[in-house]
Amino acid sequence: MKKSHNIYIHVPFCVAKCNYCAFFSRACRSPDWDGYTDRIINELKYFGNMLDATTVPTIFFGGGTPSLMPSECFGRIIDGVNRYFAVDSDAEITIEANPGTIENTKLDDFCRMGVNRISIGVQSFDDEKLRFLGRIHNANDARRLIDYALNKNIRVSADFIYGLPNDTTVDVVNMCHEINKIGLTHCSLYELTLEPDTPFGKMNLNMPDNNAMAEMYIAIAQNLNLPRYEVSNYATPGYECRHNQNVWDGGAYIGIGDGGAGRVFLNDTWYEQMGGGKQFNAMTNAARATERIITGMRTMRGVRIDSDIEKILNMEFAKTHPDMIRFSGDRIIATDMGMLVLDNLIENLVK
Ligand SMILES: C[S@@+](CC[C@H](N)C(=O)[O-])C[C@H]1O[C@@H](n2cnc3c(N)ncnc32)[C@H](O)[C@@H]1O
Ligand code: SF4
Repeated sequence: MKKSHNIYIHVPFCVAKCNYCAFFSRACRSPDWDGYTDRIINELKYFGNMLDATTVPTIFFGGGTPSLMPSECFGRIIDGVNRYFAVDSDAEITIEANPGTIENTKLDDFCRMGVNRISIGVQSFDDEKLRFLGRIHNANDARRLIDYALNKNIRVSADFIYGLPNDTTVDVVNMCHEINKIGLTHCSLYELTLEPDTPFGKMNLNMPDNNAMAEMYIAIAQNLNLPRYEVSNYATPGYECRHNQNVWDGGAYIGIGDGGAGRVFLNDTWYEQMGGGKQFNAMTNAARATERIITGMRTMRGVRIDSDIEKILNMEFAKTHPDMIRFSGDRIIATDMGMLVLDNLIENLVK
C-alpha cells in the first residue's frame, strides 16, 4: 500500500544560539546556502524516486531558523519538492521564523512561493525576558511580524515559553491575555526545559517547582481563548497544525536535511529515517506502536487502538485508572489529570 508522506525540511542555522536551546542548529553568519540547498534537493530527489513521487499533504520548514534562508534558495527547494513529489493543491506549507531575521519583502517572497502558514518564535512580550533568553529581537519586532503576517491572510502561529525563573501564575495569565488580544488562531506555549549543554543547563537557575508549573499549565487552559489540542499547542478548531498532528497520529513523513527526522512507509514496512542519509532502519511493529502511544497521548484526540497498539497496551492499567485515562469509541485519551503526569502515565501504559 502506498501512503502520502509529509515533508519536513530542516535548516540548521541561526544568527545566535539562544540560552535555552538544544535544537540541532549552529550560529553561523554566512552559511553556504547554495551548497546546503543542493544537498536538500538531492535528498528530495532520492526520496521522490524511492517513494515513486508520492503525494505530499504538508511541507514544514523547521530549524534552526528557516527564515534566514535567502528566498532564491527557498524557491529552488520548493521547485525540487514539486519536481520529485505530487504536492497536494491545498498543501499546508509552513515556515518557522525568528522575528529578528525576516523583513516584510522576504515574507512576501516566501508566500509567493507557496508558504501559507508561518510559525513565529515570539517567546515573550517582555523585553527583559527576551534578553534573558538570549533572543536577537525585542517584543515590538515580534508584534510587527505577527501583524504583517496576519494581514497577508496566511495562517499565523506563535511560540511562547513560560515557567522562567521567578515566573508566577500571574505572569502566565497575563501572557495569555496578551495573546488573546492579538487574535491568533494557533499558538504553542512551551514550559522552559533546562537542557544540558546549553548556557541555562549549566547555570544554577531557580526554576518554579513542579506544583507551580502544574498551576501555570492549568491557568493556560483557563485563560487562553484557544483550546488545547496537544500538550503545548492551542488552536481554533480547524486551524491545528496539520503537519504536526500527522506526526503525533503516527502518520508518514520524510525528514530532509541534517537535523531532519522522518518515519517512512515503504513496502509495508516502517522505517526510522534521519536526514543527510544518517539513518534508514526498519522498525518493528511494537516499536512503532510504542511511539504512537508516546506521541498520540500528548494530543486531546489520543490514540486509536488497533491490533498493534492492543499488543503493547497495558489494558489492565488503563481500565483501572479512570481519573487519568478515558476511552472514547476506539480511542484511548488522557484526562486533564492524566495530562499533568503524562510521562509517568505513558510509562505505565506500555507493557
Ligand atoms: C525551532 S524554534 C522556532 C523558530 C526559530 N528558531 C525561533 O526560535 O524563533 C522552536 C521553538 O522551540 C521552543 N524551544 C526550544 N528550546 C526550548 C526549551 N529548552 N524550552 C522550552 N521551549 C523551547 C521555542 O519556543 C522555539 O520557538
Ligand atoms: S530557539 Fe530558534 S533561534 Fe534560538 S537557537 Fe533555537 S532554533 Fe535557533
